[in-house]
Amino acid sequence: MTRSTGTLVGYWDRMAPTYDRRMAGIERRFFADSRRWVCGRARGATLEIAVGTGANIPHYPDGIELTGIDWSPTMLLAARRQADRIHPGVSLQRADASDLPFPAETFDTVVCTFALCCIPDERAALVEALRVLRPGGRLLLADHVVASFWPLRALQHAVDLVSVPLHSEHYTRRPVTTLAGLGVVIEETERLTLGAIERVHAGKPH
Ligand SMILES: C[S@@+](CC[C@H](N)C(=O)[O-])C[C@H]1O[C@@H](n2cnc3c(N)ncnc32)[C@H](O)[C@@H]1O
Repeated sequence: MTRSTGTLVGYWDRMAPTYDRRMAGIERRFFADSRRWVCGRARGATLEIAVGTGANIPHYPDGIELTGIDWSPTMLLAARRQADRIHPGVSLQRADASDLPFPAETFDTVVCTFALCCIPDERAALVEALRVLRPGGRLLLADHVVASFWPLRALQHAVDLVSVPLHSEHYTRRPVTTLAGLGVVIEETERLTLGAIERVHAGKPH
């Protein structure tokens, strides 16, 4: 069973007001360093897919030309508040990651962090990310992925049985394996935390 788009957007809308507070411990311990890794590699016109509450915004370099999309209006409101404090020029708009409202080859960098785990059609989102990326551009990802440590991997498969039908939250995906079939060049990868977090820098060939 998969949830409808409306149900999932409603779920993220309800999560938005408490999201940063709930995630604070995990954020400090497991996510923040990956945000620095990803955002520090962003160059030029940058699109962030599924921007959420804007947790990456403080980590981008000064002068970044940033556009963020998310399908949850309430998440976007939180991201707007975050952007106004740090990078007021950030443009934010409502869109579905699987059907981006931008022409092909618009951005120098596309970023997506901790969201390919819950975007219902991960492959469609990656195809869209690559479509809007210019040749020579960078695709920068960080996410929790299927672990390399088997006991944790077994637990993730068990959790997926509940979390996927409930909220489309996947613990056993690994975007770099999906990317392998999409014609990109993998420039760098790092896998941390028993293999359960992975960062990827992929290039779109000229
Ligand atoms: C776990 S939060 C992560 C937010 C942010 N990327 C971060 O690193 O903190 C997942 C976000 O993905 C968004 N999302 C999920 N599926 C989406 C889709 N198909 N299109 C746009 N946004 C989506 C949700 O609304 C939510 O804001």
